Amino acid sequence: MPQSIPATLIPGDGIGLEIIDATLAVLRALGAPFEWDVQVSGMEGVKAAGDPLPAQTIDSIRRTRLALKGPLETPSGGGYRSSNVRLREEFKLYANLRPARTLIPGGRFDKIDLVVVRENLEGLYIGHEHYIQIDDDPHAVAMATGVNTRQGSRRLLEFAFEHAVATGRKKVSIVHKANIMKALTGIFLETGLELYERKYKGRFILDTVIIDACAMKLVLNPWQFDVLVTTNLFGDILSDLVAGLVGGLGMTPGANIGANAAIFEAVHGSAPDIAGKGVANPIALMLAAAMMLEHCHLPHMAARLRTAIDLTLNVDQVSTGDLGGQSSTAEFTRNVVGRIGNA
Ligand code: NAI
Repeated sequence: MPQSIPATLIPGDGIGLEIIDATLAVLRALGAPFEWDVQVSGMEGVKAAGDPLPAQTIDSIRRTRLALKGPLETPSGGGYRSSNVRLREEFKLYANLRPARTLIPGGRFDKIDLVVVRENLEGLYIGHEHYIQIDDDPHAVAMATGVNTRQGSRRLLEFAFEHAVATGRKKVSIVHKANIMKALTGIFLETGLELYERKYKGRFILDTVIIDACAMKLVLNPWQFDVLVTTNLFGDILSDLVAGLVGGLGMTPGANIGANAAIFEAVHGSAPDIAGKGVANPIALMLAAAMMLEHCHLPHMAARLRTAIDLTLNVDQVSTGDLGGQSSTAEFTRNVVGRIGNA
């Protein structure tokens, strides 16, 4: 039995509790040795502690350096700043790794196996925004500042290139908009090309593609891509696009990795439209847990979990409504747990 691993657990908002319960059930069935410290954030943090990111939650992750997190609600327009963005900043989680793999063969896009590596701390996400008042309109002009640094770009690109080499990927595409945002995304492109020439040439093919063309190419022929590495906002949008290629947001996990901590989550949000109905697809968070197991050097457990999900979907034909199935979150989870038990 592996030694116990302290980890922070943030159930989150909306469907968070439902998919966290489901994921804990499969981790228990695997005998995963996580010792959970349960904490709140997002809207639950506001309700319980008057703060969308309570100090206790930060302290817990500082101690464990490892977290599994449900989605956190962020109000649009006004209201508090995203707790997700604040967590990434607090723990300098500069790399966001978002793999998308076909789990159910025979769909509109078959045999997809892509990874989006997104810069997680810079760009237009830094939140330096303001309005300028003209006459009696306080919101007459809206402004945002984006910041990308050479050092921030390099560390993310290096992470992506190392990931490509370690996982035997053949091609990395740098996605940018340096034709228009010549400085803001030009620095990312330039740094990537320089790093490749200096350190990675010949270890994989490097390709560059402009974001708008990339979106079109991903829909026409996604198989031409392998690893996509890009700046914060483009990565956010592209990872949802790529999720759509493999059956939707219920299928794609994400890892936020930094030097001092790693936080694992689903790519999707709190899905308020289906929260509390017991119908959410827990696969994305289960796959995030699989990434967490690999991060903790427990790849055999991650492999058992992936196999159990595969057998549930493709042999037992059990799936939730977003995938065209009829099962509830709990029924799907019971099946995965059963498959783990029988393996
Ligand atoms: P969303 O990802 O929550 O939902 C988009 C659509 O996908 C909805 O129709 C939803 O029902 C569906 N969906 C998402 N996950 C699903 C699942 N597991 N099973 C079945 N269907 C699923 O995006 P939305 O509605 O734009 O955002 C809702 C809230 O989530 C916002 O407050 C947003 O800020 C937050 N959010 C949080 C994220 C995080 O914590 N990492 C990421 C994205 C959004």
